Amino acid sequence: MCGIIGYTGPRQAAPILLDALKKLEYRGYDSAGMAVISHDAIQVRKMRGRLQLLANMTRDGRDLPGTVGIGHTRWATHGEPSYYNSHPHLSNSGRFAVVHNGIIENYRPLKDMLIQKGYTFLSATDTEVISNLMEYCDQGDLARTLMAAVKHLQGSYALGVLSADEPDHIAAVRQDSPLIVGRGEGENFIVSDIPAILNLTRDVCLMKDGEVALLDPKGITFYNEYGEIFEKESFHVDWDVSAAEKGGYEHFMMKEMMEQPTALKETIRPRIKDGRFVLDGLQLDPEWVKSLSMVHIVACGSAYHAGRLGKNLLEGRLGIPVDVDIASEFRYRHPILRPDHLVVIISQSGETADSIAALREAKGKGVKTLAIVNVVGSTIAREADYTLYTWAGPEIAVATTKGYTTQVAALALLTCCLAQERGQMSGEELQQMEALLLSLPDAAEEVLSDHKEVQHLASLFFNHKDIFFIGRGIDYSLSLEGSLKLKEISYIHSEAQPAGELKHGAISLIQPGTLVIALATGKRLRDKTISNIQEVRARGAVVLALCLEHDEEIESVADHVLRVPFLCEELQPILAILPLQLFAYYVAALNGNDVDKPRNLAKSVTVE
Ligand code: AGP
Repeated sequence: MCGIIGYTGPRQAAPILLDALKKLEYRGYDSAGMAVISHDAIQVRKMRGRLQLLANMTRDGRDLPGTVGIGHTRWATHGEPSYYNSHPHLSNSGRFAVVHNGIIENYRPLKDMLIQKGYTFLSATDTEVISNLMEYCDQGDLARTLMAAVKHLQGSYALGVLSADEPDHIAAVRQDSPLIVGRGEGENFIVSDIPAILNLTRDVCLMKDGEVALLDPKGITFYNEYGEIFEKESFHVDWDVSAAEKGGYEHFMMKEMMEQPTALKETIRPRIKDGRFVLDGLQLDPEWVKSLSMVHIVACGSAYHAGRLGKNLLEGRLGIPVDVDIASEFRYRHPILRPDHLVVIISQSGETADSIAALREAKGKGVKTLAIVNVVGSTIAREADYTLYTWAGPEIAVATTKGYTTQVAALALLTCCLAQERGQMSGEELQQMEALLLSLPDAAEEVLSDHKEVQHLASLFFNHKDIFFIGRGIDYSLSLEGSLKLKEISYIHSEAQPAGELKHGAISLIQPGTLVIALATGKRLRDKTISNIQEVRARGAVVLALCLEHDEEIESVADHVLRVPFLCEELQPILAILPLQLFAYYVAALNGNDVDKPRNLAKSVTVE
């Protein structure tokens, strides 16, 4: 996944491109580059490594004069990070420059064809094929040339293209990869993600697959997939600029953890009206809802962990089987899907390739799909039959926090709405759940208000090499997420085990001093977990227990205790994950890691 930006207007382009690329770096940060038109020629500056190196090399863009340009920050897929593999890519004649986010699946045969036509290539990327394809398909009109070129492409792409022959223009197109157009006063923009241009404009248009846009300082011309010009509505984004900047916190992750009460409020409140659960007017056919016989929840990473809690909620209230699948497995295991099934796809970014494929697999089998997504206008949001947004706002840090908690809240809302439609929750039960959901933001605020104990525990354990999480039922699903958070930002080996499963193998890894984080926040299985705590302590483990307020007994079996208030069994994980997120954050920060951009990871994995 990469970040692209484009600017055409009266101002010097390079400083504007650099500033926006800074806000896009979470999308990929192994190399960066810019192309700017000056004196009817395209100047390219690019290099391997963090964006700051490019800024230094161009003296913050001052060495790259010109008022029209495109920029890119890269997450390598084809060709390892290097100067030649970084974007933009020039065509052989230097007349076209291209920045790209996505993967061209048929780039090899295209490259072979172009080589036979005498074109040469400097990089191992799929993208450079597009630059030379522009030259090969040249129609003497940038927009028409781009339309001709993309006809050859298979795969996912968001493209920004410059032509030395049209010095004021930027052409852009998207297919299965996010692209937004920004309308300014006498200047216009293309960008991969809205937050990166919020300080430049608040009027944006979401590009649809196959649409082409031609920008110049005065205006934007949109072409549909048939090459016909059409008018496109823009909408006003009311996110505040600070949403895209760290709001005074050292890391986006801390800012986003502390935003969870607001994100939960934004996600929950609009869905409860006059004592009824309403899901943004999703026109769910009541007869179909009543006939629903099974739910499949499909996702990746933390979204999959949220899905496991969704299974608990839906099975508990609807009494129908719920399967939870990792998308990369689901898409190839030929799942049994029937018209009276529902497939729920969960994704913060809405662009995760395996989740998109799972969605298309389900749709291909004529099964209704509902997406729980955070990014407005993302591929999954647009392609699902129904979309329930988590209103968490932009999430920049790679390690999801508010994305996860709002997904669990959205699953609770979905459960209540379906149970309400099926008459499976009494008025009293619905009211109870409504009150509990509406009380969540304040309860989360309280848990997030004091970090002292978590910080202290992080300082005791930040240099451990192996850390185990154990739990039963919802606490096991929670420990999966707690362990993932720790792994992805602290680089400490960690695994989550069903507490009752330890004695069937993994307990052999426990030795004196091994840290075991035991979760006992669910009342139903707490006693069982206590005996598992005693099992590991007997092997010399140091136990940090996460439990409920007023659970005195656990003090006697654990070395350290973290407490959360009790809400209810179903919603408890939304509170209980908060100290685990904080623990992971402080351990990572104490290890001096780049908390927001952990190594080897990207915010949204748009490749299979
Ligand atoms: C979680 O912190 C990770 N960023 C990762 O596991 C993530 O949850 C996964 O890639 C799914 O992303 P999505 O929710 O955007 O689809």
